[in-house]
This record gives sequence, structure tokens and C-alpha cells, in this order.
Amino acid sequence: MQISSLRPYSGPSFVGANFKTATKLDTQLKQIKDYIRAIKEGDAPNGLFIFAPTQSILKTVADLVKDVPQIKLAAQTVHPTFSKENTGTVLSEHLKELGISYSLVGHLEERKKIRDLASPAKDSKIISQIENEEMAKKVQSLVKAGIAPIICIGDVLEEKNDVKNVVKAQLFAATKLIAKEDIQKLIDKGLTPAIAYEPAWAIGAMAASPTLAEDVCKHIRSLVIEKFGADIATKVAILYGGSVSPDNIQSFAKMSNIDGALVGGASYGNVPSTFSPKIFAISRLNALAK
Ligand code: PGA
Repeated sequence: MQISSLRPYSGPSFVGANFKTATKLDTQLKQIKDYIRAIKEGDAPNGLFIFAPTQSILKTVADLVKDVPQIKLAAQTVHPTFSKENTGTVLSEHLKELGISYSLVGHLEERKKIRDLASPAKDSKIISQIENEEMAKKVQSLVKAGIAPIICIGDVLEEKNDVKNVVKAQLFAATKLIAKEDIQKLIDKGLTPAIAYEPAWAIGAMAASPTLAEDVCKHIRSLVIEKFGADIATKVAILYGGSVSPDNIQSFAKMSNIDGALVGGASYGNVPSTFSPKIFAISRLNALAK
């Protein structure tokens, strides 16, 4: 049977490794080199591996992976516009100049900073509005620079019962300033835009159950269809992130609407050699073939 008749997504299995700012640069570089070696030596035919290293070594890692087609780099976030009043950030335009083709945007840890900074305003509607406007501008600037966003959305613990509305509001807000044609342009360039469902309560804690993650990712797929149409939705990867580990990755990979994973701790932890991102791609391919 044709894979395409079974699966809603027809892009590559997608594994993102978010190194945050968790370790020293030499530790991170060593881990990244280990991954590159494993990916080069292994056979992960349809996999796409996205490394989001600490900003300070983006260029160094870009040079390391330039001849490895399965590996692309992502920034961990961006600032949308040139500014004489913004110290200490990376711009979408800078990423373009560096040849970086992906960026995370709206990671919970980034949203939390915005929420904390805005908290004197107290009114939660105003805080959401500030957050939403920032996300929309960031996504727009990335897309304009030809960089594929990996849009992170998710619920905090108190929102768990309302998760579908929460992810809908976040996704529609983040994509408010972009159109179907913008996403199509990225796809035509061979990029895979992605949406990562990352419940705040699961990051660095205990993973969501694969059934819950699948249910939310399926809902996200329906939102992508609603916003961008069914064709585009087959090329946008829907990821799960939040305590993905070597022990549970296969159970997420089996799910029909989970096209990949965003992996934090297991990418930069003390035992990186036990976690090979290619496992995800391979298990995903096996699941696709069933
Ligand atoms: P975690 O992080 O895998 O450590 O839970 C995921 C993330 O922050 O993207």
C-alpha cells in the first residue's frame, strides 16, 4: 500500500535537538560531533535532523554540517527587526546571512520570559496579546528571510483541560501575519516548517502520554489544514516535545500524527551516546511502512 494513502504527512521524519544553553561550548560541540558521526555512519534515509545549538556556536556548527544533507541548523529564537535599542539577540536577517535555514520560535522558555516581564500588567489578556504579537512578528520575519519556523506551542499545567483551545489560539496568533503562499515558498525551497506541541508541564519533567500527544498533534494538523489547506498540511511536520528520551521515543514515533520530536535534555544530557536521533527516523520509517 502507498505510504501517502496511510499518512497525513509526507515529509521527512524530523528530529530536533535543542541544546539550550545547558552546557559548556566544548561539551556541546563534542556531543554535536558525535551525532554528526552517528548520522553520517548510520542509515536514516528519510530523516531530517535539526540541531539548535547555543547561539555562540551556530556558525561553527554550520561549518561542521555543511556537507551533511540530513542535518540542518536552527536558532533557538530570533528578534524580528533591526534595532538600535535591542542588545543581545540574533535577527532573522542575520540567520539568513549565516545560511541558517530553521529557527525555533515561541519555545515555552521564551514565552515564559515574555510572560514574566509583562506580569506587572497583571491582566492575562494583555500578557497574551503581547506574547501573541511578538510571536507573529518573529514568525513573519523568519518566513520573509526564507527561514522555516519551528513554532512551539503548548499548555501550562492550569490549562491542561483546555489544551485544544490553547494551542489553537497560540498557533493562529503565531501565523497571523503569514499566508499560505509564504509557507509554500519555504516548502518549494526544500524546507520543512514545523509545529511542536510542547506542554510546559512535560518539559524537563515527565513526558505526556503518547495518546494525549497524538490527540493534540492530530488537532494541530486539523488547524494547519484550516489555516493553510490540506496540501500544505502534508508538508508541515507536527512534532512532540517534552521529556522525549531513548526509552519513550518509539512510542511517540508510532503515532500517526506525530512526525517527529523536539528533544532537549536527552540531547545534551550526560549520556548523549545512548540517544541517537536517527532512532526516531528509523522507527518512524518502520511505522510508515506498516
Ligand atoms: P526536554 O526539553 O526534552 O528536556 O523536556 C524539550 C524542549 O525544551 O524543547
